Amino acid sequence: MPAVAKAQCIADLKQLARRRIPEFAFDYIEEGCNANIAMQRNRQALDQVQLQPSYTSPYTDPQLAVNLFGKDYDLPFGIAPLGLTGLVWPQASVMHANTAKKANIPFVLSTVATISIETAAAHAGDNLWFQLYPPADREICLDLLARAKAVGCQNLVVTVDVPTPSRRIKALKSGLSVPPKITASSVWQSCKRPAWSLATVYQGLPQFANLTPYMDSKTMAMKDAAEFIRSTLRDVVDLAWLQWLREHWHGQLIVKGVLGTHDARAAMEAGADGIIVSNHGGRQLDAAPAPVSILADIVQAVDADVTVMVDSGVESGVDVARYLALGAQAVFAGRAFMYGAAAGGQAGSDRCATLLQLELQQLLSQLHCCSPTELPRHLLR
Ligand SMILES: Cc1cc2nc3c(=O)[nH]c(=O)nc-3n(C[C@H](O)[C@H](O)[C@H](O)COP(=O)(O)O)c2cc1C
Repeated sequence: MPAVAKAQCIADLKQLARRRIPEFAFDYIEEGCNANIAMQRNRQALDQVQLQPSYTSPYTDPQLAVNLFGKDYDLPFGIAPLGLTGLVWPQASVMHANTAKKANIPFVLSTVATISIETAAAHAGDNLWFQLYPPADREICLDLLARAKAVGCQNLVVTVDVPTPSRRIKALKSGLSVPPKITASSVWQSCKRPAWSLATVYQGLPQFANLTPYMDSKTMAMKDAAEFIRSTLRDVVDLAWLQWLREHWHGQLIVKGVLGTHDARAAMEAGADGIIVSNHGGRQLDAAPAPVSILADIVQAVDADVTVMVDSGVESGVDVARYLALGAQAVFAGRAFMYGAAAGGQAGSDRCATLLQLELQQLLSQLHCCSPTELPRHLLR
């Protein structure tokens, strides 16, 4: 039996991941930014959310399905966009795409993931959503949109909360960078993780597969590719940019990284169909509010036809329920799925979805709550 089959919570997957991948790759997943305050705040804020059971009300088996943008999903959570996934485990994004297809949940492919939109679609089918970091070159942007449309992707997530690179202290100190620097320490760390090293040698160094078509040489060295990305993905998303995007994208437009009513209203003004309230898992702004503290206000501030989703800090099905109780219609997890793939490849990624589902199902049963949309009634105010 693979070790991940015995994992009974996301913390178990995290522990397995720590033992299976080099330290620099683990730090890449785990780290927040600066003093890691926003990341800790996410945890503390989620822990404060209490849910009240109603044991005497009639009990029916909970149904976890949700409808988002006209499509039925089996579960009210999905896989958040994750960049540079191939560093953590070769083909991690393919595994996530497969998990999404099997579990029937959304999978959001990052612009800077290490598989292409076309590959992701071949695995995730219509569970694929695409996340856009805004290329300064509008031709590249339009081409990415056309490619997403061509593979049948209908949901575009534009991330607004990376106007500048953040300061991740461990990464800065260890030299974890794009491209990964080959230092004595990173070589030593890799030697201690032979399964990772073999898999990486076998697959070759990760490429920014979505962007290679726009690079001068398809075999451009990772270093040059990284420089290309730094200079290409440099546009800051503002209202005008969102409006431009709205004109050119005819599917659902979802704005990710909303942390207040001002940006939520701006997203609406630009014609967004949905928003993801998020502090990027505490990886961008160390003074950021926790989504828990602002979610209810944002739900109040936007029109009822705007789908409000959330991420940041999800470490269990209980956390998923907490966000749903605060009014989110769907919840995304990032690190949890990264730990899954790092812990045990495809089986680990699948196990992550299963654990979140089992925990959520058990929690709803315990509360006597029959569906995700009923959860707000159980919120202790
Ligand atoms: C390793 C890693 C890479 C990420 N890459 C991206 C990315 O390319 N685009 C993006 O919009 N968000 C990215 N995020 C943020 C996630 O989409 C999501 O907001 C965050 O992981 C949620 O917090 P959680 O990890 O605590 O679940 C990344 C997060 C992690 C942990």
